[in-house]
Amino acid sequence: MKTVGIIGTGRVGSTLAQLAVAAGSSVVISNSRGPETLAGLITELGPNARAATPAESAAAGDLVVVSVPVRAYRDVPVAPLSGKTVIDTVNYDPELHGRIAELDDPTGPATTSEILQQHLPLSHVVKACNNIFFLTLGSLSRPTAAADRTALPIAGDDADAKGEAAAFLDALGYDSVDVGPLTEGWRYQPGTPAHRVYVGDSIHDAVPAGTDTVRTALAAAVRPSSMLGISAEERH
Ligand SMILES: NC(=O)c1ccc[n+]([C@@H]2O[C@H](COP(=O)([O-])OP(=O)(O)OC[C@H]3O[C@@H](n4cnc5c(N)ncnc54)[C@H](OP(=O)(O)O)[C@@H]3O)[C@@H](O)[C@H]2O)c1
Repeated sequence: MKTVGIIGTGRVGSTLAQLAVAAGSSVVISNSRGPETLAGLITELGPNARAATPAESAAAGDLVVVSVPVRAYRDVPVAPLSGKTVIDTVNYDPELHGRIAELDDPTGPATTSEILQQHLPLSHVVKACNNIFFLTLGSLSRPTAAADRTALPIAGDDADAKGEAAAFLDALGYDSVDVGPLTEGWRYQPGTPAHRVYVGDSIHDAVPAGTDTVRTALAAAVRPSSMLGISAEERH
């Protein structure tokens, strides 16, 4: 992946930026407060990183990561993402970020990725990296074919975009498990077994999980009737 655009460069976005730069990509990172507030991170990331606005990140990326709080999904620029693969790391956290009416509606979409896809009708959204704690994401990266390589689920409606997402994750140090279309993304939202699969005794205890382990966790998911009632430990 030549250039990765990152919209939302907090805990998850900056971890992905670090992994992407380590994998040889350039990154164009952005947040809500402006490029100047990312100067420290740019220094850490080195010469293959630059800070920009979200629209500039979207335009620059061959692939673009969206890693913002769910309440901000409508701010993601639409036109510059047209035709691109967009990795969605977003989780729905009603206690921290407020209620999102379209996700609370039992007759509407069940996942952040589906509402992001509606917002970006000409892009190809792939749900990925939402079920792993950001510190764990930074620490479980392994070279291809390592015995303890971890797998991450991906869901999306476009096969080519999922292929691109899988190649991106591979470069970052992860295998991937194709869960199916975006409507299957609930299988690794907060509260599901796949959201706890890389966690040991505490959330800071990172446990590698390969494709078979992740597939088993995904198969054990029980569709929640509501996002409410998810424990604080499961929300991140
Ligand atoms: N933390 C985790 O371990 C974890 C793991 C998996 C998934 N997730 C999910 O991934 C997403 C990011 O999580 P995080 O923990 O990295 O959050 P975070 O540390 O709070 O970072 C959020 C980032 O989004 C930016 N942002 C907010 N509103 C924006 C807007 N309107 N336009 C552009 N950028 C905007 C913020 O910029 P400013 O600081 O300038 O406002 C910040 O860079 C969330 O949806 C979260 O639920 C988190």
